[in-house]
Amino acid sequence: MRTALVTGASSGIGRAMSFLFAKDGIGLVITARNENALMDLQKEINSQYPAVPVTIISCDLSETGAAQVLYNNIQSKGIVIDYLINNAGFGDTGWFVQTQWSKNEQMIQLNITTLTALCQLFVPGMKQRQFGRVLNVASTAAFQPGPTMAVYFATKSYVLHFSEAINSELKGTGVSVTALCPGPTETNFANAAGFKDGGLFDSKKKFPTAEEVAAFGYRALMQQQSVAIHGIMNYIMANSGRFIPRNWVVAITKWMMTK
Ligand SMILES: NC(=O)c1ccc[n+]([C@@H]2O[C@H](COP(=O)([O-])OP(=O)(O)OC[C@H]3O[C@@H](n4cnc5c(N)ncnc54)[C@H](OP(=O)(O)O)[C@@H]3O)[C@@H](O)[C@H]2O)c1
Repeated sequence: MRTALVTGASSGIGRAMSFLFAKDGIGLVITARNENALMDLQKEINSQYPAVPVTIISCDLSETGAAQVLYNNIQSKGIVIDYLINNAGFGDTGWFVQTQWSKNEQMIQLNITTLTALCQLFVPGMKQRQFGRVLNVASTAAFQPGPTMAVYFATKSYVLHFSEAINSELKGTGVSVTALCPGPTETNFANAAGFKDGGLFDSKKKFPTAEEVAAFGYRALMQQQSVAIHGIMNYIMANSGRFIPRNWVVAITKWMMTK
């Protein structure tokens, strides 16, 4: 039986994606800080898919060295990871000079450092076994600078470019890396990032659900796509920046983020 490691499995896209692996008979290691939420997820999966083993490892992946601790824990249980889903991440809103370094540091640590370290730790084994699928959750934020979310947008640009580069390096090895780029999605993300109602996450608008985005990302992962942008409008917006001057792109994004 193959096994998937899903980070950020306690809610949103990661939670929804965990069910998709279980449905396909793939074992799970689920991780996040909220242990109770992970236990609820384990119970639900156990009742729907009793043959699928679900291992819980609750940890804070924004701590220095967290990826190595998680890797060692999984190794000590004798579990081999075939699917690595680097989904845990968060954002923060506000003018950069008014944001807190401690929060920015945690964001960079979680969205960039831990994600990179987990790839560094798990991909060599996948390559040796000639099978592995990695899904790094980026965002449509990856395609342009983001005034009022400067650090978050930049972390997601990193995720996109890093993923595309290593996917290219790994061609022909049996291991692929997919960058999933969702647009605004109905999860706890906006709340955690401090978005106010009426802006980008206007509650009057209808956004895709975590289940829809997870299903799209899961398909892209299995098809070994390099970059998967969810939604046609998101696809057009993400790519339109290539055809207009960079300063226009930043100005338009600033307008969208502050209107
Ligand atoms: N929703 C959107 O609009 C949107 C759009 C584009 C990209 N994304 C990306 O999608 C991914 C999933 O987010 P989501 O939308 O599903 O939001 P979410 O519901 O807030 O889920 C975030 C997940 O990350 C985990 N997490 C946060 N901080 C963590 C930490 N320090 N250590 C370990 N786990 C941590 C959370 O679990 P705990 O709190 O239990 O630790 C939770 O399971 C993120 O990378 C996000 O940047 C979201």
